[in-house]
Amino acid sequence: MYDFSNKIAVITGADRGIGKGIAEAFLPLGAKVIGTYHSNKNAVEKFYNKNKIYSQNVDFQQLDVSDYHQVEKFYHYLESTYGTFHILINNSGIRKDAILGMMKEPDWRRVLDVNLSGVFYMCKFAIRSFISQKYGRIINITSPSGKIGFAGQANYAASKAGMVALSKSLSKEVAKKGITVNCVSPGFIDTEFINDLSEEQRKNYRMNIPLKRFGTPQEVAWAVIFLASKEASYITGTTLEVTGGL
Ligand SMILES: NC(=O)c1ccc[n+]([C@@H]2O[C@H](COP(=O)([O-])OP(=O)(O)OC[C@H]3O[C@@H](n4cnc5c(N)ncnc54)[C@H](OP(=O)(O)O)[C@@H]3O)[C@@H](O)[C@H]2O)c1
Repeated sequence: MYDFSNKIAVITGADRGIGKGIAEAFLPLGAKVIGTYHSNKNAVEKFYNKNKIYSQNVDFQQLDVSDYHQVEKFYHYLESTYGTFHILINNSGIRKDAILGMMKEPDWRRVLDVNLSGVFYMCKFAIRSFISQKYGRIINITSPSGKIGFAGQANYAASKAGMVALSKSLSKEVAKKGITVNCVSPGFIDTEFINDLSEEQRKNYRMNIPLKRFGTPQEVAWAVIFLASKEASYITGTTLEVTGGL
């Protein structure tokens, strides 16, 4: 079993979906989780209620990762409250799908702002702490869309491919400081993120997945836990796919 005692993990978008699955995997392993949410206070409430036994080890903060000043303020809070932290999971993400010719400019920009600039901001402040303590784990949640592209997802695919490129570059910059930077790429995972898929679409997608089913947040979480562990010390600049073989 992995041991995250005395480790603090920051997880963006930890209130629901994959981020919640990751947070709930860290807690029994001893980590303190600083989760962020964007606007869904209800989901945060539910999280606290469900995970009461770990309440000492959970702290949720409201944060729009696309806002540089909010991110800066979040890190001031983190530093003044906890001093330092050890693990950063950039999980927050949005979709605003449309075929490229019909894609509205604000939808292009918003997806890039949240999914890509948000990761840049979060990493920029994190590595300051990580460099001074000569230890850190960064895991960014990308998507197969960034590797193979999906029709209607030019903005999303570009943001997720950019995230992989950012991670690879950063991994080379900080490797000598004991910091690893990797991506996890989930396939179709049953969360609100894909609530808009019709039953017909779900059936078709499932047929193309070798394991013939969608994944769960927990199945993504275990890949993240592995990469976040001290045992994964020789893995950096890579992407672990959790796609059922897609
Ligand atoms: N589900 C899939 O099939 C799938 C597949 C591949 C990759 N992914 C990636 O996995 C990650 C998590 O997806 P999910 O399925 O868990 O999605 P989800 O259930 O829709 O959750 C999205 C999370 O992102 C947060 N968020 C949204 N906008 C934000 C912003 N501007 N600033 C900060 N946080 C923000 C949300 O906070 P609120 O709750 O407050 O709104 C929520 O916690 C995303 O990066 C997504 O691209 C998902």
